Amino acid sequence: MREIKDLREMHLYSLKARSHGKKIGFVPTMGALHEGHLSLVVEAKKRCDIVVVSIFVNPIQFAPSEDFASYPRSLGKDKKLLKNFAIDALFLPAAEKMFPGGFKTFVEVEALSKKMCGRSRPAHFRGVATVATKLFNIVNPDLAFFGEKDYQQQLIIKQLVADLNLPVEVVSLPTVREFDGLAMSSRNAYLNPRERKSAVILYKALSLAQREVKGGERDLNKLLFRLRALIGSEPSVRLDYLVAVDPKTLQEVKKIGGKVLFALAAFIGKTRLIDNMVVGE
Ligand code: PAJ
Repeated sequence: MREIKDLREMHLYSLKARSHGKKIGFVPTMGALHEGHLSLVVEAKKRCDIVVVSIFVNPIQFAPSEDFASYPRSLGKDKKLLKNFAIDALFLPAAEKMFPGGFKTFVEVEALSKKMCGRSRPAHFRGVATVATKLFNIVNPDLAFFGEKDYQQQLIIKQLVADLNLPVEVVSLPTVREFDGLAMSSRNAYLNPRERKSAVILYKALSLAQREVKGGERDLNKLLFRLRALIGSEPSVRLDYLVAVDPKTLQEVKKIGGKVLFALAAFIGKTRLIDNMVVGE
């Protein structure tokens, strides 16, 4: 596993691999790796000749009030984990090289970025879209792998790749969960044991939505009311949002029919977690 910090070196590494006809798979992350991240690496290994993973805690996708400073960082452990997967390159750019003084260009994906998480994190997806565009330009991958755990994010990345004609195929993969259903997340490390137990209510609510829709429930308001009540039954959990939306446009749906994305964000104590499930057919 070659460790690359320099942006130009990363670019040249990819160019060289491509000139040898190698297919490059790219897994962008912010580190504190868990099995969710690693599922992307496994798929990239299957589908590509060369796999590049990046670890970069992207400052511009955090608001000043958010957890950039305390975001879990465990580079030593991450490197050990990645060694088991025999990836080819680990890209570790420095923040001051990615965003030097005088940086002025941002990528905004309209509409999709304003919904769901965009309501409570107004500049978040501009930060994600900008760093993803830069990383794609530097790493120059054939395929890039994203998790459906961050459903809105992967949709925004697909939109930006299409709109800006970026020569990369975006692959999205299912959410990896803990034994009790909680979606794996680097931020789960913030939870104390009591909060960790409470957090499973998010998965329970989404599973209830899935079961009820499968069982024929068609009254969306009644169902959303039940889900909110279930989540409300956990005193340490505070919903940020819970919505039922079209999985392609993220527009709120009025009734249940076809595929519906149930998506939520909630604070467990001070920790904000997200999760989602596509239900129906
Ligand atoms: P991060 O939260 O580290 O996630 C990196 C990738 O892992 C994302 O594509 C995310 O959706 C995926 N992932 C996280 N948890 C997962 C789970 N439980 N199951 C499956 N996939 C999971 O998302 C980011 O970093 C950043 O916003 C980034 C795209 C790197 C831009 O800075």
